[in-house]
Amino acid sequence: MTLTAILEDIADEFRDVSERGVVANYIPPLACVDPTKFGMAVVEADGQIHTVGDADEAFSIQSISKIFGLTLALDAIGDALWTRVRQEPSGSAFNSIVQLESEYGIPRNPFINAGALVVSDVLVSHYGVQEAQQKILDLVRPLTRDAKNIVIDRNVALQEKETGFRNAALVNYMRTYNNIENPIEKTLELYFHQCALTMSCHQLAEVGAYLMTGSWNPITGRQVTSTLHARTIMALMMMCGHYDASGSFAIRVGLPGKSGVGGGILAIAPGVASVAVWSPGLNEYGNSLLGTRALERLVQRTGWSVF
Ligand code: DON
Repeated sequence: MTLTAILEDIADEFRDVSERGVVANYIPPLACVDPTKFGMAVVEADGQIHTVGDADEAFSIQSISKIFGLTLALDAIGDALWTRVRQEPSGSAFNSIVQLESEYGIPRNPFINAGALVVSDVLVSHYGVQEAQQKILDLVRPLTRDAKNIVIDRNVALQEKETGFRNAALVNYMRTYNNIENPIEKTLELYFHQCALTMSCHQLAEVGAYLMTGSWNPITGRQVTSTLHARTIMALMMMCGHYDASGSFAIRVGLPGKSGVGGGILAIAPGVASVAVWSPGLNEYGNSLLGTRALERLVQRTGWSVF
């Protein structure tokens, strides 16, 4: 059976499922997304792409963008990053503050909000807020055949800012431990704009493909980061990419993956495929409910689990 036929089977299976999870509702632009949307895209190691459903519709990638912020921060300061954020699973919710108090303001990993805020702070120190946003766009846009609609949605960023009290609390709290170098509004501004990155599954699977190949984008032949950084990012995706549901994702799907509250997931089968899925309804951990199930099904059909 071809990969395209497998994707069509999966989309058929989920088309009429009524239990689709709950769409993120903390800001209107996310709350109004149609919960019946479903898209999937797979890029193989030779650059071939297979898509199904709403794979060409742009959505807010939210926390999936933490992969790209981390890529830039590792390229900017290398291992010095690990003095400010650790490399361990948290077992806590994505926006939790509890561990920071007993762990001296050092977040467990770069994918929980606290850790991603430290990564943003590193990028603000290194590039400044505006240039760092441009760096993120300059990183992702050339990695896809068609970058149209890959934008930072200013309205999403603004609304995040207006409701981002928890993220403001995290930055303020870490600043008391001197783990934030910049004025908190600058670090938050970059973080909210990074989270507001918008693209389709088709584009996301292409953009993320550098992780599958040890940092070479199979479409452009361009080296994106070092092989070691790509491996580090994938290891963190496996351990921390789904927050306190990372363990069950590893068991059910068996691939490094990163989710976002927009309902997207990027999963990488090392050396084999880069997979993006989008279904806006979330489970209780803030990860796409049907997106996770769809990846589970894909791996059952293809044998792509790394375990
Ligand atoms: O900062 C936040 O809470 C959101 N902008 C992003 C959170 C997110 O995507 C968590 N992922 N599942």
